Amino acid sequence: MVRIASALGLIIFSVALLILSLISYVSIKKDFLPGPPRYGPNGGPRMYMFHTGFRSQLAMKYLDPDFIPLSSALTEDLQNASKWRHNSTAFTQTEISQHIDIPRNFTLTRDSVKVGQLMHFDYSSHKYVYSIGENFRSLLPEVSPVLNKRYNVCAVIGNSGILTGSRCGAQIEKYDFVLRCNFAPTEIFKKDVGRRTNMTTFNPSILEKYYNNLLTVQDRNNFFLSLKKLDRAILWIPAFFFHTSATVTRTLVDFFVEHRGQLKVQLAWPGNIMQYVNNYWKTKQLSPKRLSTGILMYTLASSMCDQIHLYGFWPFGWDPNTGKELPYHYYDKKGTKFTTKWQESHQLPAEFKLLYKMHTEGLLKLSLSHCA
Ligand SMILES: *[C@@H]1O[C@H](CO)[C@@H](O)[C@H](O)[C@H]1NC(C)=O
Ligand SMILES: *[C@@H]1O[C@H](CO)[C@@H](O)[C@H](O)[C@H]1NC(C)=O
Ligand SMILES: *[C@@H]1O[C@H](CO)[C@@H](O)[C@H](O)[C@H]1NC(C)=O
Ligand SMILES: *[C@@H]1O[C@H](CO)[C@@H](O)[C@H](O)[C@H]1NC(C)=O
Repeated sequence: MVRIASALGLIIFSVALLILSLISYVSIKKDFLPGPPRYGPNGGPRMYMFHTGFRSQLAMKYLDPDFIPLSSALTEDLQNASKWRHNSTAFTQTEISQHIDIPRNFTLTRDSVKVGQLMHFDYSSHKYVYSIGENFRSLLPEVSPVLNKRYNVCAVIGNSGILTGSRCGAQIEKYDFVLRCNFAPTEIFKKDVGRRTNMTTFNPSILEKYYNNLLTVQDRNNFFLSLKKLDRAILWIPAFFFHTSATVTRTLVDFFVEHRGQLKVQLAWPGNIMQYVNNYWKTKQLSPKRLSTGILMYTLASSMCDQIHLYGFWPFGWDPNTGKELPYHYYDKKGTKFTTKWQESHQLPAEFKLLYKMHTEGLLKLSLSHCA
């Protein structure tokens, strides 16, 4: 009896300790945030980052006082999306091009590398290298596919679960140029996300994850067919971000060399560009360990498009239209729990707040409501 009582006491004590340490963890984090950016339509003094899973989902709604102005503006926006106006003066004045030569940073070209050259990786230790081979070089374009290209209104499609049930597909189909992230599936979600794709990023690790490293004839056929569907779109392959891509990159290169002439997709292979991209966002007080692919696509689109609309940019686990729970990606299997794994390296809420500010300034349009 005494034993049970003392065990029970111990449990209660540890639970209390756990709660206390959680509380102090949250408040410590809050106090030590580096240089909080100015924020909010009426110059709200500071913003928080959200560090723990439950916080990120609840804080936006209930805990963060800075979210209140944002939240009411957002509610108005959701009720009447036609209120948004593009400010082309402000958009043409963004200084992205002062930090990044986008057509040039967009891809390595045959003239910009030599066979035998050792490439490094943006996010890996400098000790890791990739030796440029003849095959790799032969897959590079002669000139950047976006050099002197200009499109009227572009859409960048993020992969957030907010697109699930949005019925935005038909609207997305109408854009002049549609950029997508990470080879996200469209066919079976076309009602919500559309099919039109003029460019998509392709992290080499996708081969490992979804195409079994092209180890069987079936895997190779599947991959070939997916590429065939892209038609003349640009496949943007960041092979020099992580050293862990090196091995799959070789598999990918062999595959493209083997199927040369059978595919129309245009390959683009960016080199080590993230320092330039980061420099730009640093001027906006955004400097996470890693920027998201979505904000990177916005960055690239800014040099080719007169106007940019964003869909599927919403890093929270609940739908602002309905309050219902959301999956993390629109293509996640039903019942997949919302994940906050990205918090190890990304700062998606901070990115979102910045993008939302840019939305209110007419620099871009964030589409968060249902389309039909
Ligand atoms: C939405 O906003 C526009 C522009 O401010 C206005 O003309 C329109 O009447 C509004 N619609 C609704 C349903 O409030
Ligand atoms: C558009 O942006 C410019 C430059 O940032 C600013 O001066 C102007 O007031 C903005 N126009 C509107 C209608 O918001
Ligand atoms: C990217 O752009 C910057 C700034 O314009 C330039 O200095 C750099 O050489 C470019 N890097 C690559 C890999 O294209
Ligand atoms: C964009 O892609 C669609 C097909 O997905 C194609 O019909 C259209 O011509 C492309 N537009 C540009 C500017 O490449």
